[in-house]
Amino acid sequence: MNRREFIKTAAVAGAGLLVLPSGARGGENAPSNKLNVALIGVWGRGLAHYDSLSGENVVALCDVNEKRFPDALKRFPNAKTYVDWRKCLDQKGLDAVVCCTADHTHAFIANWAVNRDLHVYMEKPLAIAVEEARVVRANWLKKKARLATQVGMQRHAMQNFNRVRELVRDGAIGQLTAAYAWGDRQIRRPGYLPAEGQPPEGFHFDLWLGPSPAHPYNPGYFSGGAGMNCLSWNMYWDFGAGQIGDMGSHTMDLLWNAVDAGLPTSAEAKGEKFNPDVTPVECESHFDHPANDWRGPIRVSWYQGGAMPASPKPYVDLKRIDHGAMFKGTKGYVIADFGSRILLPFGDDSDLTYYKVRAKDAVLPPLGHFQKQWIDACKNPSLKTACDFEYSGNMIEQLLLGLVAYRVGKKLEYDGATGRVTNCPEANEFLSRKYRPGWTLNG
Ligand SMILES: NC(=O)c1ccc[n+]([C@@H]2O[C@H](COP(=O)([O-])OP(=O)(O)OC[C@H]3O[C@@H](n4cnc5c(N)ncnc54)[C@H](O)[C@@H]3O)[C@@H](O)[C@H]2O)c1
Repeated sequence: MNRREFIKTAAVAGAGLLVLPSGARGGENAPSNKLNVALIGVWGRGLAHYDSLSGENVVALCDVNEKRFPDALKRFPNAKTYVDWRKCLDQKGLDAVVCCTADHTHAFIANWAVNRDLHVYMEKPLAIAVEEARVVRANWLKKKARLATQVGMQRHAMQNFNRVRELVRDGAIGQLTAAYAWGDRQIRRPGYLPAEGQPPEGFHFDLWLGPSPAHPYNPGYFSGGAGMNCLSWNMYWDFGAGQIGDMGSHTMDLLWNAVDAGLPTSAEAKGEKFNPDVTPVECESHFDHPANDWRGPIRVSWYQGGAMPASPKPYVDLKRIDHGAMFKGTKGYVIADFGSRILLPFGDDSDLTYYKVRAKDAVLPPLGHFQKQWIDACKNPSLKTACDFEYSGNMIEQLLLGLVAYRVGKKLEYDGATGRVTNCPEANEFLSRKYRPGWTLNG
């Protein structure tokens, strides 16, 4: 039995499914049960993973900025260091990868890791182009029985996500007809930054650019504080997807968790004037989704940068919710932020007699610790993660298709099976990105 098989067997034994002879099984985190993890992107958001990884073997640290290594090594002294994630992923004996790099590398690192049979925790967003999301999802689906994946939408663990889902699913608003999510963050930039200075010693700017087209160095891309620096680059088309990859991923998750949708059949969008350098601040996109086994067809909408859905009642000021979701049913609305919700029954027959509150023992169980859910699933593949590459891949593919609809300014008919727009050939050009020579998405 190799190390990885032993970890899985021991974890299953821990779940009471298999009894190994005493001595063959360690405690929950006995040395033999620990994962060998590579942390890629060790500062910024990377810092938020130190505690949850402290019980595992962090054997590799990768960052394009060598100045980040001394502090990271204090916490994980046995790790090898790398500046190029492609070399890091080839370290022998790895089990899992936690990735906190810039958004334009996410789909690359996710694909390369899955192709090397590694479990992956990928910070959101999973991808910044439709094709990227599709390739990652397809690669993982082939291995989902043995590889655990999670996209970093950790707000999903808030109990309110379950409560919103229960209200919608159990019919508190009758039949669901539409769902809206919005975020009001507004960071305006005129265009890519001009050349300024040289990258500091030990900072590998060319590796930071990675697969994206070359742009001159400017320290303004790296001027944010820890965990906030993404707000210095994520609005540029070559480095991110703007609001969609930023708070949009968290906020659409609040909606997505309650509607059980797959890929949309159409997308349309409008927003501020197109800027070839910068993703739109103000924009709204709308998607048609077919019926599923518990609801009819629905329309899903995303609003950003000041665009907002109409409020059902003048006394409900949706603008007071900076990042929120609203669900419309035949008998009312649920309106929610991440931590709370209100139910607004609507119409003469909305007396709530059609709705039965769940018994205490039937409410959805708490998810627990979001990162730990993934670590547990790495060790026991029969356990599921909430935001795996299928759930998160569908969600981000939809949002990114909205950006394509915004670019072409037409309502798109979409075939989710093939990933093609069927009524607008020019839109298909924008489903993928052009990469610098030498960089392979699915390597
Ligand atoms: N889940 C959340 O709540 C949350 C919060 C903040 C950021 N994020 C996500 O985390 C990611 C990082 O955001 P940040 O603000 O920490 O950004 P950042 O620019 O500070 O980058 C984080 C670290 O990754 C390193 N890095 C960047 N590109 C790399 C590469 N190609 N290879 C190796 N190392 C690389 C940087 O040098 C830095 O140390 C983003 O994708 C962002 O969307 C998620």
